[in-house]
Amino acid sequence: MDVTAMTKKELMELIELNRDEPSSELLNEAASVRDKVYGRHIFVRGLIEFTNHCKNNCLYCGIRSANTKVHRYRLTKDEIMSCVKEGTSLGFSTFVLQGGEDLYYSDDVLADIIYSIKEYAPGCAVTLSVGERSYESYKRLKSAGADRYLLRHETASEDHYNMLHPSSMSFRNRIKCLYDLKNLGYQVGAGFMVGSPYQTSANLADDLLFLKELEPHMVGIGPFISQADTPFRGEPDGTLESTLTMLALVRLMLPRTLLPATTALGTIDSHGREKGFDAGANVVMPNLSPSDRRKDYALYDNKLCTGAESAEKINDLKTIIENAGYIMDMGRGDSLVNSEQ
Ligand code: 5AD
Repeated sequence: MDVTAMTKKELMELIELNRDEPSSELLNEAASVRDKVYGRHIFVRGLIEFTNHCKNNCLYCGIRSANTKVHRYRLTKDEIMSCVKEGTSLGFSTFVLQGGEDLYYSDDVLADIIYSIKEYAPGCAVTLSVGERSYESYKRLKSAGADRYLLRHETASEDHYNMLHPSSMSFRNRIKCLYDLKNLGYQVGAGFMVGSPYQTSANLADDLLFLKELEPHMVGIGPFISQADTPFRGEPDGTLESTLTMLALVRLMLPRTLLPATTALGTIDSHGREKGFDAGANVVMPNLSPSDRRKDYALYDNKLCTGAESAEKINDLKTIIENAGYIMDMGRGDSLVNSEQ
């Protein structure tokens, strides 16, 4: 099936047909497209959740500013460097610095951290995931050595965006940030939650069409999972099946993109990651944060942070990947979007 040529209406039909039970035809086609581009390699990134302070108040997110129950933390540069050192000794060569939108980490502070990581591990890739910033800020961080940037668009429909976010946040600025990042030469990751409140199949079709236009190097997709201290407590979680359907459709829409089997997918199903690989995913991001902080980075309830989700258990992850018929790859795993290879 040629998903890339489909209209919004056709995409909606395909989504509705597969939402409760992705067809094996869809999953197999997505996996075989992934195999053709990337082979059976699953790329591993070390995730460092370095601050859970956030100035934003997204309705779905457990670290939203209005949540007074969160125990807030910030890692110092030394603590971040210890994570990087541990990761390097475990064999990691890409580090993702992820945090809430925390003004404490000014451009100077972040640039110094990025520079030091690059100095310590010159061949590694540094990925930032610290939300919306100005063009100048993104430029500064790029010249400090950042290679990649993850900023989920969350939903490509402005009206749906406004149902998930407070009025102080703007859909247009988020989209502008993604294009700024691309123009500055970052490898860019966009993405969205599946099954977020009020989401329709038309919204999901718009997500696919938006991704086709943006052509990001990576796409992060996971199920929405409700968090008890947010306005969306009690809302139903996204399902495994609908998430697998969207993973497969994104793989078919963007054959060369990198597609993580996310922590949220591993959280809603004990074999979520492997099922994600079989739907076309090819990245995992185990947690390298200090273990006593992990429980505080609670974006949603029951978020996994132990076992194969933790970097120090990389051998357990390797076993899972190999038993599922894949090869664990700890290289930089650069995206093949816009490459001639
Ligand atoms: N369920 C699933 N994913 C969530 N995120 C935030 N809150 C939740 C939730 N309740 C995702 C958002 C964000 C990423 C870091 O985590 O998509 O971009």
